[in-house]
Formats: sequence, C-alpha cells, structure tokens
Amino acid sequence: PAFSAIIVAAGKGLRAGGDTPKQFRKWRGKPVVMHSVDALNAAGCGSIVIVAPPGLHAEALAAAGEPANAVTVDGGVTRQESVRAGLERIGEKKPERVLIHDAARPDLPMAVIERLLAALETHAGAIPALPVVDSLAVSDSNSTMTGKADREILRRVQTPQAFRYADIVAAHRSWTGALDAGDDAQVLMAGGGSVALVQGDERLKKMTFAQDFADGRTVAQFRVG
Ligand code: CTP
Ligand code: MG
Repeated sequence: PAFSAIIVAAGKGLRAGGDTPKQFRKWRGKPVVMHSVDALNAAGCGSIVIVAPPGLHAEALAAAGEPANAVTVDGGVTRQESVRAGLERIGEKKPERVLIHDAARPDLPMAVIERLLAALETHAGAIPALPVVDSLAVSDSNSTMTGKADREILRRVQTPQAFRYADIVAAHRSWTGALDAGDDAQVLMAGGGSVALVQGDERLKKMTFAQDFADGRTVAQFRVG
C-alpha cells in the first residue's frame, strides 16, 4: 500500500559527539541514514523528504545513497520544526499516508512498517511502542527517590510514526504549544486525532551516544556469513 516518508536528519547529534553528525556517520557498513532509506524503499515507499541541516543537503543526499525518489529540505532548530518543514514539502506529492522517521534509528524492520500501515485503517495515527521492563523511580533534582511510577500504564515510543497526512499536517499547523514537542503523536492527539500503539521492536533503538556506534561495530565484526 502506498505511503510517503519524512526522514528527520537535521540534528547536530551533540550527545554522540564527533566531527560528523551521527546520522551521516557509518554504522554496519553504510551511513546511518542510508539504512532507513533502504528499508523504506524495500517496503514500497513512494516519495521521501530528507530534512537536512541547512548547508548540508549534498552531504545528506550522498549519505542517503542518492535515492531517486528523495528530495531535501532545510530543518529547523527543534525536531518539531524539522518535521513541519518536511510535512509542508511532502505535501506537494499529495500523500494520503506519511511515515515520519528519525534518521538516527537505522535498524527498521519491515514488520513494524506493516503493523503501522495496518493500524492506519482505523486510526489517524499509529506509533511503535514497547513495554517498560524496569521498575520506575521518581527522582527529585538531587537524585533522591521521591516515589515510584506504575510501569504498566507506560510505553516506550519509537519511530517511524505513521499518520493520515491530512490529519497530521493540520495538527502541526494548529499546534499552539512551544515548538519543541519531541513527538508527533502528541501533536496529533492535541489536534484531536486518535493514536494506535502497535508493537515496536528493540532493534529500532535510537543511536544517541558514541557507545551506540561501538556496539554496531562489534556486532558487525562478529557476524558470520
Ligand atoms: N532532528 C532534526 N532536527 C532537529 C533536531 C533533531 O531533524 N532540530 C532529528 C535528528 O537528526 C534525529 C532525530 O531528530 O534523527 C531525533 O533526534 P535526536 O536523537 O535528539 O538527535 P540530535 O538532536 O541530532 O542529537 P542530540 O540531541 O544529542 O544533539
Ligand atoms: Mg536532540
């Protein structure tokens, strides 16, 4: 079934450090962002908008593997502003459904995309979510425990997040909060849309720290065949 995608790749990757933003660095043999482009295209993606750091569009396209179905657009100061720029650009293709994905999550299983698109039959939005396995402590600013939270009602949320395009673009345009909502499902909910929680995947973990790249090399080194 047809869908378009926005890959947000305009961050600075400050926590990961290094000279090159993490999404353009190599992991398991190819640039981080190229993994997502390849997975989306293998799943039948139509158009892709890669949201890039201003001044780094050529670098972004090169790291993505110069996909024939992709264009770039300038990102903003926050992730939400970057998503908004991507939504306006992908709108030129009049998509019915759009996946919004973090470039920093390179290991994107096909089954997750299938679950998301299936859930859009009944919901305006669908996001991958996982249960919390650890106990949850509430902390004050001095790292002293002040209570506990109930993990049964909480989920860890990943990307890609899937939306009916008309609903998510309207929700972003009418958002009145600060322009730093880290999560598009939250924006959709604020606009009255319902969000399905589908099963996520541990492999979708976000590359955040330098250590996440070290793990990737270790796995690649010991992979057989
Ligand atoms: N992102 C973006 N535009 C921004 C900020 C983030 O497109 N202004 C993207 C990042 O490139 C990444 C995704 O949003 O693919 C998730 O953000 P995060 O993991 O926080 O990446 P960075 O903001 O780049 O990293 P850091 O917070 O460590 O600086
Ligand atoms: Mg960030």
